[in-house]
Amino acid sequence: MSVSLKEIADQGQFDAFENPGPLTHGLPAMAYTDADFFQLEQEKLFPDSWMCVAYAHDLPKTGDVSPVEVAGRPILLVRNADGDIGAFQNVCRHRCMKLVDAPKNVGKLLKCPYHAWSYDLLGKLRSAPHFGGIDNQTPENFNFDDHGLVPVPCGTWGHWVFVNLNGNAGALSDHVAPLANRLNGVDLSDLKLVGVLDFGEVDTNWKFLMENFIEPYHVPVVHSSTTDQPLADHYVVNDGTCLGSAVDIDRAEGVEGRAGSLNVSSRYLTLFPNFVLGRYFPDQLGVHVNLPVASGKTRQYRAIYKTDGVEPCEQEGQALKKLWWDVHKEDHEMCERLQQGRASAVAAEGGVLSPCWEISVRRFQELVFNAVQ
Ligand code: FES
Ligand SMILES: [Fe+2]
Repeated sequence: MSVSLKEIADQGQFDAFENPGPLTHGLPAMAYTDADFFQLEQEKLFPDSWMCVAYAHDLPKTGDVSPVEVAGRPILLVRNADGDIGAFQNVCRHRCMKLVDAPKNVGKLLKCPYHAWSYDLLGKLRSAPHFGGIDNQTPENFNFDDHGLVPVPCGTWGHWVFVNLNGNAGALSDHVAPLANRLNGVDLSDLKLVGVLDFGEVDTNWKFLMENFIEPYHVPVVHSSTTDQPLADHYVVNDGTCLGSAVDIDRAEGVEGRAGSLNVSSRYLTLFPNFVLGRYFPDQLGVHVNLPVASGKTRQYRAIYKTDGVEPCEQEGQALKKLWWDVHKEDHEMCERLQQGRASAVAAEGGVLSPCWEISVRRFQELVFNAVQ
């Protein structure tokens, strides 16, 4: 049953957030800790959005299938014979069994393990053995065309797979445009995958991982071992649903970019709600898939790409993986501690946001707040 924010929030809980005084407050603690608030996001925010749920390289071959949970629903990704990735409700049309529970290659047909109904890679029902009796697949009133897998709007941009559960989010190309426009000079069809870092489940709310990526305020403090960029070189990106920050090293006097570190000109960009892309000049891109699991848990994995069209050597790949593993562990520790801080009454009103460095965080939180109304 659907809940509303009014039903689950205590009287006045969002007052400080909604009515900024001289300083703006963040979202109250319950937005990060409360199971009902997470349920509200599962019902209203995630289904209404283009959620990035996988990398295209997760399904490299025709017949590859991969289950993913989106907003608590079982969804199935399928690479079809045209080379496209489609999405379906991961549910058999016979008795509604979850069809696929682990990534695999199914060849040309996807067979339900219960009574062997089979679907092709476009979701069409191809076989329902003995459904009407021995050797009878089509009892009266049963039409194969009415019992195919239920499609879910799905699209691929670059190497990244998005789904929009309720089909209300508009065209994917429009959704990605504000970020795509900031990638001039990058040929997304020629990215070289360096490696994937699988962080598993991080003990924090998905919003903390996003907010952390969006603001530059923490960078010189948390990542002091990998960068000496002064905060002054950073600026905030606050462009509708494309939020983040950036740093232009060549604006800083006497500071040179240093390949293999964070000391390079960078773009830290997101698309609301869960897509994260970092561009590190001259030739690197990183993309995170953040999958909200529960109010205090988020599954995260990250792909590292080269943008110069050159396959990275083993040594370079290992160095980049080590750099990014260490950097993200620093961020995860902060995000887990943000989550822990939410158990304190002090966090009830969400702390205060910098009017300079965290205006994009504020915008992100407003998008969340609006989406759960
Ligand atoms: S539930 Fe799938 S074939 Fe019966
Ligand atoms: Fe960080």
